[in-house]
Amino acid sequence: MFSLQNKIAVVTGAGSGIGKETALIFGKQGAEVFVIDLNEETAKNTANEIVKNGGRAHAKAVDVSDHEKVNKLFSETGPVDILVNSAGVSHIGNIDNVSEEDFERLFRINVKGVFNCMKAAIPSMKKKKSGAIVNLASTASHIGLPERFAYTMTKGAVHAMTLSVARDYLNDGIRCNSVSPGRVHTSFVDGFIKKYYPGKEEEMFEKLSQFQPIGRMAQPSEIASIILFLCSDEASFATGTDYPIDGGTITLRT
Ligand SMILES: NC(=O)c1ccc[n+]([C@@H]2O[C@H](COP(=O)([O-])OP(=O)(O)OC[C@H]3O[C@@H](n4cnc5c(N)ncnc54)[C@H](O)[C@@H]3O)[C@@H](O)[C@H]2O)c1
Repeated sequence: MFSLQNKIAVVTGAGSGIGKETALIFGKQGAEVFVIDLNEETAKNTANEIVKNGGRAHAKAVDVSDHEKVNKLFSETGPVDILVNSAGVSHIGNIDNVSEEDFERLFRINVKGVFNCMKAAIPSMKKKKSGAIVNLASTASHIGLPERFAYTMTKGAVHAMTLSVARDYLNDGIRCNSVSPGRVHTSFVDGFIKKYYPGKEEEMFEKLSQFQPIGRMAQPSEIASIILFLCSDEASFATGTDYPIDGGTITLRT
């Protein structure tokens, strides 16, 4: 089950966290993986790990917010079977204190980045009459998280784009879903704790862990498993849906 033999997969943000674990598990399941990240070194590390485990991988340093570079990337990959949009950045703040610059930066990376990659991948999926796309949404797509104004705007858009693409390409054999993780212990979380709560790192880590009713953050591999399922042929009936994987955050918080 969950074999990705003979599939070409593009995973963005694959130098770290959820994208990295997804790329690694895809490699193990037999996919040829294009490991995309802004950071060339971390992309190469992930690709090397896949190859060391006996898989096939190529590292590409691409900024997903750059339309031309993303088009060039997809002209080099050949027709892709699987696209996972995991590249993304965080921001903490409410509408009062978010700057216009940060609002636009978050939009450019988290929204336009997903748009660019889906737009570039879909034509070849249409030709093949087959494709699976998974976008990283968030619990912020569903509930009002405190002090996440710009980030929430982007994750609402990711969820909405997922539904729209799933609807438009239903008859082209393309499935499009999103996953909404609760907090996952990656450099994404460590990074914003360090940036926004200097000196209170441990306290914030504990507070953010307890926010999930399950009492902890997820490990990135726990998110990669559901992404693997959604990209595999075993999920052939799954499209146009968001899959929360959040330790009970959306439904069990009292
Ligand atoms: N960690 C969490 O708690 C959490 C929760 C819900 C959703 N998410 C979402 O999951 C996704 C992955 O998060 P993560 O925790 O693995 O983050 P991470 O910071 O560990 O990894 C993100 C990767 O994206 C890359 N990246 C950033 N901007 C890029 C760009 N413009 N072009 C290409 N690559 C770029 C970074 O270099 C990094 O390697 C994000 O979209 C995030 O919003 C994360």
